[in-house]
Amino acid sequence: MSLLEVTDLRVSFSTPDGVVRAVRGVSFEVDRGRTLGIVGESGSGKSVSTQTLMGLTPGATVSGRALFEGADLLTAGERRMRRIRGAEIGMIFQDPLSSLHPLYRVGRQIEEMIRAHEPDTGRDAARRRAVEMLGTVGIPQPARRAEEYPHQFSGGMRQRAMIAMALALNPKLIIADEPTTALDATVQAQILDLMRRLQREYDTALIMITHDLGVIADMADDVLVMYGGKAAEKARRRPLYYRPHHPYTKGLLQSTPSAAAGADRLRPIPGQPPSLIDIPSGCVFHPRCEYVMDRCVTDEPVLDPVTGDDDPTHVSACWLPLEALGLGEDAERLRRRAVEEGRVRARPAAAARGGAPEASGAVDATADGGDGGDTGAADRDGPAEGEDDGGTRGDGGAA
Ligand SMILES: Nc1ncnc2c1ncn2[C@@H]1O[C@H](COP(=O)(O)OP(=O)(O)OP(=O)(O)O)[C@@H](O)[C@H]1O
Ligand code: SF4
Ligand SMILES: [Mg+2]
Repeated sequence: MSLLEVTDLRVSFSTPDGVVRAVRGVSFEVDRGRTLGIVGESGSGKSVSTQTLMGLTPGATVSGRALFEGADLLTAGERRMRRIRGAEIGMIFQDPLSSLHPLYRVGRQIEEMIRAHEPDTGRDAARRRAVEMLGTVGIPQPARRAEEYPHQFSGGMRQRAMIAMALALNPKLIIADEPTTALDATVQAQILDLMRRLQREYDTALIMITHDLGVIADMADDVLVMYGGKAAEKARRRPLYYRPHHPYTKGLLQSTPSAAAGADRLRPIPGQPPSLIDIPSGCVFHPRCEYVMDRCVTDEPVLDPVTGDDDPTHVSACWLPLEALGLGEDAERLRRRAVEEGRVRARPAAAARGGAPEASGAVDATADGGDGGDTGAADRDGPAEGEDDGGTRGDGGAA
């Protein structure tokens, strides 16, 4: 059994503007000692998913299951959750100032946290451990620094202090939500290094939330790509980088400088993340997808295992052929062919007449498809006629 098993997590908020469906059926698991990276643009539901596990989304409507060592976090009482927070699951946030109390000395805060969870630990012992932890996370002269207030620390040092606090009780799982976003690149690399080293030393499981695939490349064993409150793709790290299936993952890779595997130039994903009140029909990514087909607008894809990958955990929620993996030309040809067929289906009359309609004409059926940059026909390489590669999955869209 995994340390944490989240199944079909759904979280929504009632607001004056309508119901915000922030998380819409997400499942993932984290094993002991492993790192799950959760990646996605702003508003994709990364923070809400994990905050809900910790009981930190008051007022939200929540369903699903989140078994931590076999017990459901979503139905645990507040007393049990208080024990779990810190002692069993530690959290590191983007902004340490929101977690460190400005009016208490840093050492004292770690000391108090230890004593709150371990009433038998005396003040001196707790103090010694706090100083030791500050030393472990690389804060120089930890005994002196323990006497200082958070504002006397630099950003990087505050983040180290947060890590010291998260590790002080030796939790089994740490949830790190954008832990290095506010730091400059050098300090970011140091902090990630530190987290990796400590994780190995303490055999802690880690959930690393970020919008930066570069961070995932450094840290994660497994990756969950989120878009519009759902999982778009899940895989182990290497397959996700080298054999992505979902166009959103591909878009993220092609727009991340350090992660652009095989991409020769950076290409931002056109358009904006969706509203979570008024969610697009069919595939939630369709308004931005360069491969949008007719069925994408009406049918919602579910996570399916891709084919031809040696990662059995690799799944993707996209109607493109499941064997179209990676950023190479062959995969691109498969996608383009599927798109051409998928768009043709909208015009059964034309097809029946025996005409092979231009894909660029058929695409109009999908109205707001991306920025109109690629039309399928434009860079088609002319696959051999009559060759049957299985085309798009299923046959749902056929008239
Ligand atoms: N308390 C709340 N009430 C209403 N809507 C909320 C609430 N908390 C979060 N949301 C909405 O839920 C959606 C998901 O938010 P979440 O914070 O999980 O995004 P995220 O993926 O962590 O983004 P970021 O990268 O910006 O941190 C957003 O649209 C957000 O506005
Ligand atoms: S091809 Fe269709 S199903 Fe796949 S991501 Fe694009 S719009 Fe969604
Ligand atoms: Mg967030």
